Amino acid sequence: MELREIVEPLLKWYDANARSLPWREEPTPYQVWVSEIMLQQTRVEAVKPYFARFLQELPDISHLAKASEDQILKLWEGLGYYSRVRNMQKAAKIICEEYAGEMPADFGKIRALPGIGSYTAGAISSIAFGLAKPAVDGNVLRVLSRLQASYDDILKQSVKKRMEEQVEQVIPKARPGDFNQSLIELGALVCVPNGPPKCELCPLGELCLSRKRGIQQELPKKTPPRARRLEDRTVLVLVSDNKAILHKRPARGLLAGLYELPNVEGKLREDQVLAYVRQQGFSPLRIRQLPEAKHVFSHVEWHMLGYLVRMEEPEMNPGQQPGEAFLFVEKEEMEQKFSIPSAFGAYVRYLRETL
Ligand code: ADE
Repeated sequence: MELREIVEPLLKWYDANARSLPWREEPTPYQVWVSEIMLQQTRVEAVKPYFARFLQELPDISHLAKASEDQILKLWEGLGYYSRVRNMQKAAKIICEEYAGEMPADFGKIRALPGIGSYTAGAISSIAFGLAKPAVDGNVLRVLSRLQASYDDILKQSVKKRMEEQVEQVIPKARPGDFNQSLIELGALVCVPNGPPKCELCPLGELCLSRKRGIQQELPKKTPPRARRLEDRTVLVLVSDNKAILHKRPARGLLAGLYELPNVEGKLREDQVLAYVRQQGFSPLRIRQLPEAKHVFSHVEWHMLGYLVRMEEPEMNPGQQPGEAFLFVEKEEMEQKFSIPSAFGAYVRYLRETL
């Protein structure tokens, strides 16, 4: 199917079926911005009272820029993800400083503001300024996947980017905002996410490839993120005189090239730790077990056990040198020069207290 074919029937359907919503009455850049950020995390019905209160207390961008932190957090209470409103205020300050308090009518400049991604920038550009830019959110990805019977994973950035390009090619210059909202509206009212889509009501039913094939309910495809691998590790807080021992991670893989506290796979007993430490060329004096800690990466989860080991100062005779990936550093140097990943945060605390 040609995507261009949807434009006319969809706009016609939108004119007859669009909900009347507060932010559609007077779609100023500010109103569109506020509503789109709120709608990213909350249903339309729930957003309405928040939207009304926000605009009443902070009627324009300069009011938002000048509001106290307490006030913006209070206005957001119950919506969740407070970083969104904090970012809005940061953006409002930038708009006041750089654009005299008016949202710039330029997709690139809008997209560059804090907290504004391609979807929100597209929505503001098209709805408030009439610029022919796509606004592809989850609703639109679902509609487009079904229309084209596409099994591409809509959680992939590359798939979203391609769909944005497709929309940009057909977006009607006369009504970009209405066209974007008609796709969103179709996704919200007809081509719904949970339960069967209401294909009998759909203005694009004749064109829809997944309906033709009877596979609407299999789409869109979202591959769930892979379950994380759990990994036990033993983390060593090694100190010698007033120095800590850091280890440089390999140049590739997880946390590549960063400095870490020495650590090994598995949860080791005291005697195993002492054996390991000796094997690395160190002479342990005392050992104490530290509490367990956990760190979650995107694909792995570390379940850590720590040991604090005090060691003799290394003798500098050749052959007994610790491996060269180990570094002896003083506290100051550690704080100032070496970036230690937060995965080790719990144990770096002990290190700071000990040095
Ligand atoms: N969800 C996200 N943006 C929306 C809009 N402009 N209208 C209705 N629902 C939406």
